[in-house]
Amino acid sequence: MTEKIYLPDHFFLGAAASAWQTEGWKGKKEGQDSFMDAWYKAHRDVWHEGYGPAVATDFIERYEEDFSYMEEIGLNCYRTSLNWSRFLADYEEATVDEEYAAYYSRMIDSCIAHGVEPMICLEHYEIPQSLMERYGGWNSRHVVDLFVKYAVKAFERFGDRVKYWFAFNEPIVIQTRVYLDGLRWPFHQDSKAWMQWNYHKALATAAVMEAYKEGGFKRPDCKFGTIINVESVYARTDSPDDRNAADKYDLFYNRIFLDPAIKGAYEEGFFDLLESHGILMDYRDEDLKLMKENPVDWVGINLYHPNRVRGRINAVREGAPFHPCYYYEEFDMPGKKMNPFRGWEIYPRIIYDFAIRMRDEYGNKEWFVAENGMGVQNEGQYRDPSGMIQDDYRIDFFQQHLYWAIKGVQEGSNLKGYMNWAFTDNVSPMNAFKNRYGLVEIDLEHNRNRRLKKSAYFFKETIANRSFSYENDTEYR
Ligand code: BG6
Repeated sequence: MTEKIYLPDHFFLGAAASAWQTEGWKGKKEGQDSFMDAWYKAHRDVWHEGYGPAVATDFIERYEEDFSYMEEIGLNCYRTSLNWSRFLADYEEATVDEEYAAYYSRMIDSCIAHGVEPMICLEHYEIPQSLMERYGGWNSRHVVDLFVKYAVKAFERFGDRVKYWFAFNEPIVIQTRVYLDGLRWPFHQDSKAWMQWNYHKALATAAVMEAYKEGGFKRPDCKFGTIINVESVYARTDSPDDRNAADKYDLFYNRIFLDPAIKGAYEEGFFDLLESHGILMDYRDEDLKLMKENPVDWVGINLYHPNRVRGRINAVREGAPFHPCYYYEEFDMPGKKMNPFRGWEIYPRIIYDFAIRMRDEYGNKEWFVAENGMGVQNEGQYRDPSGMIQDDYRIDFFQQHLYWAIKGVQEGSNLKGYMNWAFTDNVSPMNAFKNRYGLVEIDLEHNRNRRLKKSAYFFKETIANRSFSYENDTEYR
């Protein structure tokens, strides 16, 4: 059955990206590597076909072109990050690198001139590598102070034009891949450091929120938030054992950031649980007060795929470093729909389920989908004779996810908008240009030229008509 789905009033449609994944290194100075740059240089072997942040999409030279396409599509907003490692020439003193700041200022002006609202994230994995080397990165409390100084400089420079700021993109990711799972350079496993990083980033979110308010940067039409990758978790069955596994998964990967950011507090018993596993971080009572007083205005949520778990069948070896999988095992649900390229399950209802959760468990706080999208390999095979990639699979993906998002709004969730990852194809950590996500193709063979995919026109029409057609397959056959 074909249904016409209308976008709710004021519901925005945008697209996201980040500085390090698009800009390229042009003009980058000695000592301005981010952690991602350093990882790429140190262990390039694992970066798909050797591509990485060095050139990326050359956004620094081509943002004008990208904003023209955004204008043509009618995109309401564009989210990217400010690259901490490049915006400052001295991280201790927060001395601004004027050359990078001038580029950034022009970029923001151009975005606005094309009718697109900029949304800026202060860290999308771009922690300066020198802070990793000197202090162990977010393991150090001092880095929280440096982050606040940096944020204030950013507000001073761009706060007159940028209304929407975010502390982090996916604050749990780097330390989980590095310290918890040991999957990435520099291959140093340390579960306690993992928790300390989580904690310091939650604290930094509150501290920057406070600085934003107290520095007078928060005008009435401005909002400060953070962007959290929620791992939508489903228990294999309704048995207490499976449900407990899902609950612990949710606690260690989701509530660990959602609770301090939105409720201003960790749940009762959490610190005891951390202590029982030997990973209780260093904290101060005054930090908890700061968090309580400074919840964010809203949250962006990155939602890609569900995670399915069951209670453990095999015990974890005694003496193994703590990992949340102490409580769960992953569960491979028969019959699940897959994005075979990325290896992720497709289950569009994750957006609706989270919408209801925000409504019922998080005081119906304002939120938006900050990333959702479909990564596909070898997209050139879907090119038509005119040269355009016919990404109908991505259009289906958008329709289904938007359908469930709008259902969430209809049922009272305070969901404000939806952003695709990403505007153009871009460089992902390690996967580089392997999985293409863009509405706009980046042609690596031809000077990184841009070309709109069919899905860009789906966005364009949906924005122009404030509606789209959705094939709701309800027929029993
Ligand atoms: C998101 C990140 O989780 O996933 C992005 O915020 C990333 O930075 C995106 O690029 C897609 O990643 P991947 O590995 O599927 O290419």
